[in-house]
Amino acid sequence: REFQKGVKHLCERGIKSVPSKYILPVLDQPNSGKGISSASNSNLKLPVIDFAKLQGSNRSHTVNSLRKACEEFGFFQLVNHDIPRDVIENMVDVSKRFFELPFEERSKYMLTDMNSAVRYGTSFNQNKDAVFCWRDFLKLSCHHLSDVLPLWPSSPMDLRQAVINYSNNTKFLYQMLTEAILESLGLVDTNNNEKENDELEEFKDGSHLIVINCYPACPEPDLTLGMPPHSDYGLLTLLLQDEVEGLQIQHEGRWATVEPLPDSLVVNIGDHLEIFSNGIYKSVLHRVLVNPSKSRISIASLHSLPFNNVVQPSPKLIDEDNPRHYKDTDFATFLDYNSSCEPKKKSFLESRK
Ligand code: SIN
Ligand code: FE2
Repeated sequence: REFQKGVKHLCERGIKSVPSKYILPVLDQPNSGKGISSASNSNLKLPVIDFAKLQGSNRSHTVNSLRKACEEFGFFQLVNHDIPRDVIENMVDVSKRFFELPFEERSKYMLTDMNSAVRYGTSFNQNKDAVFCWRDFLKLSCHHLSDVLPLWPSSPMDLRQAVINYSNNTKFLYQMLTEAILESLGLVDTNNNEKENDELEEFKDGSHLIVINCYPACPEPDLTLGMPPHSDYGLLTLLLQDEVEGLQIQHEGRWATVEPLPDSLVVNIGDHLEIFSNGIYKSVLHRVLVNPSKSRISIASLHSLPFNNVVQPSPKLIDEDNPRHYKDTDFATFLDYNSSCEPKKKSFLESRK
């Protein structure tokens, strides 16, 4: 079917209205206000965490700000993150060029196996979704890089190198942030007593995916979404969004737009970390609106536990005052709940309490 070829392909063929396959039920449309409003002046200033200050003498102050951000928002903007400007620019540039390739070239990577190391797709899960999202994406697994690299697209010619550079940089940043987050939960001995830091080693060697999202301009943006409300399943997501806004998070009972902040990364807590922290930090629902005139690119770097791990609260965060809030869950269950456009995973988490 034509819509299986993706929304970029659809737009290239020229359309004036949103095809029915993409029209959400009225109550799920972005402005329906189902229980939660999307006020027009709903822009949100997320807490800003200065990565340079995490490295400096005032680290503990910044670790406190980090804790506050993770408790109150589940999201923050990271500035002074130290990823070289050319690494980011090349990554964005090559991403744009990938989506501009002829459909025949992109479609070589349209594989049905949800778990393949490289996959070009559309919507959330194009095999399952009843209504499609206004998004095409390229997903690249970055774990065991030398094994997966030959599977990545060979066109554009510089794609592999650009993604290697970007993924190495985001992996390092993730590891540094994880250390600070464990510290903010009181779990890392700042004197670096190695015995205390088992979790850190596990977290550092988890799975790593890069997902490049492309949201073409949409003739009727009120009828559809780039991504439906969802939470990320992993530990942390580092998101590079371009200058076109679209990301909204649920905050204080409303949808609030995350303003693009130049040279920053948006960081958010995923379900693994919500569970690991025994609910101290929350994996917050977010969604993506599409734009009537501009197409938007975002690049998510998703970091999660090693694939075979059981996801469970840290024993150190359970005591009489804070009983255990989540049952053990295996990773595969998370992937199942993540493989469809239906936003029901949150209720699944609730039911595990
Ligand atoms: C995501 O939620 O994974 C992507 C968000 C975005 O495109 O801004
Ligand atoms: Fe997400």
